[in-house]
Amino acid sequence: MKLIFIYIVFTIGIWGCVESSKNRNGKASDDKEWWKEAIVYQIYPRSFNDSDGDGIGDIKGITEKLDYIRHLGITAVWLNPIYSSPNDDNGYDVSDYRNIMADFGTMEDFDQMLEGMHERGIKLIMDMVVNHSSDEHKWFKQSRSSRDNPYRNYYHWWPAEKGKPHHRYSLFDEKGDAWKYDSLSNAYYLHYFSVKQPDLNWENPKLRQEVYDIMKFWAEKGVDGFRLDAFQFAAKDTTFPAFPDDLDKNFIQYYAMQEGLHTYLKEMNEQVFSKYDVMSVAEGAGRNFKEAHELVDANRNELNMAYAFDAADIAKPEGYSVVHFKEVFSRWDSAFSEKGWLSIFLSNHDQARLVSRYGNDSPEFRVLSAKMLNTFLLSMRGTPYCYYGDELGMTNIGFETIDQYRDISAINGYKKVLLSGGNVKAYLTSLKFGSRDNGRTPMQWDGTANANFTTGKPWLPVNKNHIEINVKTEELNPRSVLNHFRRMTKLRRENPALIYGSYKLLQPEHPTIYAYIRELGNKKLLVLLNFSSSDSSINLVETSKINHIKINNADDMIIENNKITLTPYQAVICTLD
Ligand code: NOJ
Repeated sequence: MKLIFIYIVFTIGIWGCVESSKNRNGKASDDKEWWKEAIVYQIYPRSFNDSDGDGIGDIKGITEKLDYIRHLGITAVWLNPIYSSPNDDNGYDVSDYRNIMADFGTMEDFDQMLEGMHERGIKLIMDMVVNHSSDEHKWFKQSRSSRDNPYRNYYHWWPAEKGKPHHRYSLFDEKGDAWKYDSLSNAYYLHYFSVKQPDLNWENPKLRQEVYDIMKFWAEKGVDGFRLDAFQFAAKDTTFPAFPDDLDKNFIQYYAMQEGLHTYLKEMNEQVFSKYDVMSVAEGAGRNFKEAHELVDANRNELNMAYAFDAADIAKPEGYSVVHFKEVFSRWDSAFSEKGWLSIFLSNHDQARLVSRYGNDSPEFRVLSAKMLNTFLLSMRGTPYCYYGDELGMTNIGFETIDQYRDISAINGYKKVLLSGGNVKAYLTSLKFGSRDNGRTPMQWDGTANANFTTGKPWLPVNKNHIEINVKTEELNPRSVLNHFRRMTKLRRENPALIYGSYKLLQPEHPTIYAYIRELGNKKLLVLLNFSSSDSSINLVETSKINHIKINNADDMIIENNKITLTPYQAVICTLD
């Protein structure tokens, strides 16, 4: 017998909310926390919406779009850094942590944006960049001025008379060298990132207190959380011993989670997190599960949530193994099934576009595969982080030449390849697929000039496909990626099983279909995702229990006895009896 369930969803998501678990003291009860229930939308402010025509997105631009953001059904925003900065690394080089970058507006603009978010029930997570500052921060200017300056120990200095310090790898330096000689005091300073991002010295209690005071300043303003940029690198052995030769390739092994880090996190928790209703998420999750747990286990009083990179690195230009993809997510899930909490993401401002890396951005499959990937992100256990533009299925821009890039990592990486006589062509090919600028092109609001992101010249070109891929067009189309995204956020908010429910992977070895069950109490949801561009079938005993289809990015689902056949990139969520 051939059964065909036909279900086409036309409804546009309606704002709703998983009931708050807080008691009147503002303390979380049971295991429930707002940040576990959150759906985070990440905004790269430079690229979101430009309100003043200078070609750079700004805070007022975000405020103008708060209704759009709310209507996505997300519940929190993670904002990339908006502090004063000379923009060597687009705001990840902070020159004043208590001020707003001139390109982005004023503190008044910020206060209005925060108020507007809170009025709409949206929380705000700030990016704290305190592994390093800008070399234009007043601390660094003082620090470099002389060896006996009171700010000297805010940074890591190595006196040149001791000889050249042992090699340290820099991620953004054109020679890969993290030590920069400064003739002013005849010493080297340390910079794990660019030469304009000197590393702060966390061994210095005065520096630590300055940072906690800065965090309190923002917490007092009412922000709801902090994302700690590169913080797992903050603790260092300040004798700077020699590291093995594989440092450049395996720097995380030598840089992450060094002695002292937990002391700093506990102190930060004690001074900041415990005093406010704020969430905290690290960038990175240590080097193994044990370290990841040590960061986030509730009884250790450090951070709330881990943000692990294993899955974000799976996609390759030549494709990736779906079995491996499932294995990575399932391994992390099982390590955190009893204790701790994870973030779920596949894209952010350091990655190329979701659909171009993990899906299929060809005209035939872009819409379907973007919907499938968003279905995945919004149906897993862990807090989903959705990157601006991925709700539309925005794609990589695919620059051809190095002069088109603005990202310091791409530009200095290119110089490094040139200096070392490497393969420039291969480097450009890899950038075209994976560069960070692919994920930073301006938000596509409509099909007019510059996608209506700016009335000026955008700081980074707008993707030409904005004529077709844009908010305005997708708003009107019930079958768009955008409206599918809204249906998914609604489904997640209304189904605690998708938040707190267990996760059970079905058929780990199936080469193209990712199938799993989320279950809480008597509620069971079956998620079926076809990660391939061909029809794929799966035999499941659960088939007979399928009750109601909640989400389907295709018109129907073909079931024959126990065999379900999914069309290319089909994504289905159904309830089971
Ligand atoms: C990680 C951030 O996500 C990235 O964008 C930045 O370049 C580095 N940290 C340095 O702050």
